[in-house]
Amino acid sequence: MWWRSVALILLLMLGLAWAAEPGQAGGHTLNILDGEASAFNREVRGLLVWVMGFAALVFVVVMGALTYVTIKFRRTGKETGEPPQTHGNDRLEVLWTIIPTVIVLTIFGLTARSMFRLEQPQPGAMVVEVRGWQFWWDFHYKEYGVRDSNQLILPVGRPVTFEVTGGDGSNYDVIHSFRIASLVGTRDAIPGVVTRITVTPEKEGNYYGQCVELCGASHANMRFRVKVVSQEEFDRWIAEAKTYQASAPTDPTLQRGEELFKQQCAACHGLKGVAQGLPNNPDLTLFGNRTTVGAGMWPNTPEYLEAWIKNSPGMKPGVKMPAFLHLSDQDVKAIAAYLLSHKIEGFDFDKLEKF
Ligand code: CUA
Repeated sequence: MWWRSVALILLLMLGLAWAAEPGQAGGHTLNILDGEASAFNREVRGLLVWVMGFAALVFVVVMGALTYVTIKFRRTGKETGEPPQTHGNDRLEVLWTIIPTVIVLTIFGLTARSMFRLEQPQPGAMVVEVRGWQFWWDFHYKEYGVRDSNQLILPVGRPVTFEVTGGDGSNYDVIHSFRIASLVGTRDAIPGVVTRITVTPEKEGNYYGQCVELCGASHANMRFRVKVVSQEEFDRWIAEAKTYQASAPTDPTLQRGEELFKQQCAACHGLKGVAQGLPNNPDLTLFGNRTTVGAGMWPNTPEYLEAWIKNSPGMKPGVKMPAFLHLSDQDVKAIAAYLLSHKIEGFDFDKLEKF
């Protein structure tokens, strides 16, 4: 039935239009054509235009030829016996070998040019080690000795080189892939291998990061946020992050939170001044400055954080953190309040424009 095919195609198109609507993904526009934020994206966009141009050309020529022969040589009912049989056409065969070769070589040349441009070392680049874990991201500002998880603060206008790798070489590691929509991407995060990618963010804002290599149950839930701020703000941020030490709380709820944190969380999670934690778990030192919980998944509000602490496996399939169903609601609230109390004052990353 032809109308079923048409209905299916229309439905698919509607679905795609809905998925591409900017209201999705927490208001972030995931647009490959957005070249405003970095030279990297402009280069990739330029390449995409060429490839799409050739693809459109091939489509029009092939479909045009197909339509032409379908109409011209259609069955009329007046045939008597077989039509004339044609074997081989040297000129045509040479032509359809040369044209695709030229197209492929052109795309190859353009791609190589873009790759050389993008691989140029940038003097004065800040190095950030990026490590993909199941299912979250760890960021290490090597020159400052600062570690942060699932959120990356970057200065505008300064080149940054990401050294992308994955896991710690244990048997459970899988490959992830690092991409920041509207800014840079992608590099695979492969355990035991370091791949580099450099970009200079040009616009202050809140960027959306996502794992783009199928890596398990929560591949789609392996996100992160990037906050591009002014150089002055970044300098203040990194200076305070470098020396941050959690101080003993005076508020009774926070005191209870600290006590519980040490009992329940500190074996895995680091919090400077309180717990060393383990490198294969997210660092929680500046948790109060994060805008999301669960690796870029939900807004970092007490409600979501409490739900996460109580039963993260129920929220995100495949997460390594166990549920803490034995904790009372009051205890969970105390831990959440304690985590949210650790922050550098004067930053409201939620206010940044979203890309
Ligand atoms: Cu990690 Cu997909």
